[in-house]
Amino acid sequence: MAKVITVAQQKGGAGKTTVAAHLAVALSQKGNRVAIVDIDPQGSMSYWHNIREQALGEGYTGVSFTSVSGWRVASEISRLKKGADYIVIDSPPHTETEARTAIRGADLVVIPVQPSPTDLWATKATLELAKAERVPVKVVMNRVPANSRLAVTIAAELPELSEVTLGNRVLFASSLMEGRCATEIDPSSVAAKEIKSLVAEIVALLNPEEEEEVAEEPKAKKKKKALADA
Ligand SMILES: Nc1ncnc2c1ncn2[C@@H]1O[C@H](COP(=O)(O)OP(=O)(O)OP(=O)(O)O)[C@@H](O)[C@H]1O
Ligand SMILES: [Mg+2]
Repeated sequence: MAKVITVAQQKGGAGKTTVAAHLAVALSQKGNRVAIVDIDPQGSMSYWHNIREQALGEGYTGVSFTSVSGWRVASEISRLKKGADYIVIDSPPHTETEARTAIRGADLVVIPVQPSPTDLWATKATLELAKAERVPVKVVMNRVPANSRLAVTIAAELPELSEVTLGNRVLFASSLMEGRCATEIDPSSVAAKEIKSLVAEIVALLNPEEEEEVAEEPKAKKKKKALADA
C-alpha cells in the first residue's frame, strides 16, 4: 500500500507545486511507483504534467497523474493506493476544507515555508490541521537566499523542521517550465542534491523498518567475521 505525502501550506506561492513535483520525480527516479494527485483547481501540476507528456511521450513520464477535487478526493486516494508506492498530493492555498481532506488521508504532510514573516504566520494554520488529524509533519524552508539571517530567525520559530533547506534556485522553476525537474535536467546541481537529501529524509521517516534493517546489517557482518576469526 502506498505511502501518502501531502504537500500543504495555506499561504499561496510558498512552493507547494514545485516541491510536490520534485518529490514525485525524485521518488520515481529511485525506482518507486509514484502517483501524483492534484487537488488544486488552479491546475498548475496539470500544466506541468501536460508539458511532461509532450516532452517524454504519453505513458513515459515516470509518474501517474490524476486531477481530482471535492468529495472524490478520499476515494481516489484509496483507489490509487493499491497500485503505487508513493502518492504525492499537491494541495491548494487558502482553502481549509480541501487542505483538511488531503491531510486526513496522509502519512506525512510536507509544509514548504519561505523565509518571510507572513509565510511563518500562515504555517500555524497548516500545522494545526495536521495536528488535529494526527498526521506527522515535515516543515521545509524553501526559496532561501544564501546567508539569509531572516531565514535563521524564522527557522528557529518552526517546529518539525527538516534538516534540508531548499535554496532560491532558478533550476527549481526553469525545470518545471520544461515539464521536468532539477534532478533530471542537472543531477549534479545543488538544487538536485537538496531534493535528493529531502527525499532521503522523507523515505527514512516513512519506512523506519527499512532503516533498522540497514543499520543492523554491519552488526550482522561483524558477528559473522568474529565467528569466522574464532
Ligand atoms: N526553491 C525555489 N527557488 C526558486 N523559485 C522557487 C522555489 N520554490 C518555488 N519557486 C517559485 O515560486 C513560485 C511559487 O511556487 P509554487 O507555484 O510552487 O507555489 P505554490 O505554493 O504551489 O503556489 P499556490 O499556492 O499558488 O499553489 C513559482 O514561481 C516557483 O517557480
Ligand atoms: Mg501550487
